[in-house]
Amino acid sequence: MANGTADEIRLLLVEDVPQVAQYIRNLLSGQSSIKLLDVVTDGTKAVRQVEQLRPDVVLVDSLLQGRLKGMALVDQLRRLDHVVPVVVLTVPQNPIEPSPGRGIHGVLSMPFSGFDLNSKVSAVNGEFHQSDSERTGRIVAVFAPKGGVGKTTIAFNFAVAASHIGQRTVLIDGSLQFGDLRALLKVAVDAPSILDLPTDRIQEQDLRDVLWRDPSGVASCLPRRAWSSTRW
Ligand SMILES: Nc1ncnc2c1ncn2[C@@H]1O[C@H](COP(=O)(O)OP(=O)(O)OP(=O)(O)O)[C@@H](O)[C@H]1O
Ligand SMILES: [Mg+2]
Repeated sequence: MANGTADEIRLLLVEDVPQVAQYIRNLLSGQSSIKLLDVVTDGTKAVRQVEQLRPDVVLVDSLLQGRLKGMALVDQLRRLDHVVPVVVLTVPQNPIEPSPGRGIHGVLSMPFSGFDLNSKVSAVNGEFHQSDSERTGRIVAVFAPKGGVGKTTIAFNFAVAASHIGQRTVLIDGSLQFGDLRALLKVAVDAPSILDLPTDRIQEQDLRDVLWRDPSGVASCLPRRAWSSTRW
């Protein structure tokens, strides 16, 4: 966080409805964890304000009117060099799903309380600004006690979907003897294997050496940051 106290979250609000802006100001008054830097009412001016003020989080009304509408602004913010996490405000009649790949890191649906606002902004800020070393991965295991029920298919599709929404994804086949993802992904026979890993301590670099980035037809489904291990 650029300025302010160490754990104060610097928030920029893009909102053209004065009542909503005032509602949010009220929710944020009397607390010290989020500092409202400014309220921008014109979407076309929001990008410049983001670049100048460098907020930690931007709150954008999805129903913002004017030349640059709410969701078009979210798209522009996603393309900035200095990427900033965005929480989108909406109403129940206009449901929006969080989608980091589309620049929507969080969603708040009206009406929301001060607690909702605080926890959403804090959660999005925490997830986005933690350093790589603090970032912990999530492990999703696909398991079934029976063979041939679709474990490989689900694991593969899940990994593709996760990378599509901007998650760095490593797909690991825990079936060391009878794994079939290698065949599914058409990995070259001589590509390194998970079995090449040291058996005592594994360093991050060792792991990189045995990851295989899919160059085949599947690569179109697996964006740049998607990786798959080589023997399953
Ligand atoms: N939802 C589905 N609908 C129809 N066919 C499917 C579905 N999921 C998987 N299959 C097919 O079922 C077969 C077995 O799938 P898969 O290899 O994913 O299962 P598995 O549980 O990994 O098997 P194994 O135990 O042999 O590793 C494959 O031919 C796959 O294309
Ligand atoms: Mg399988």
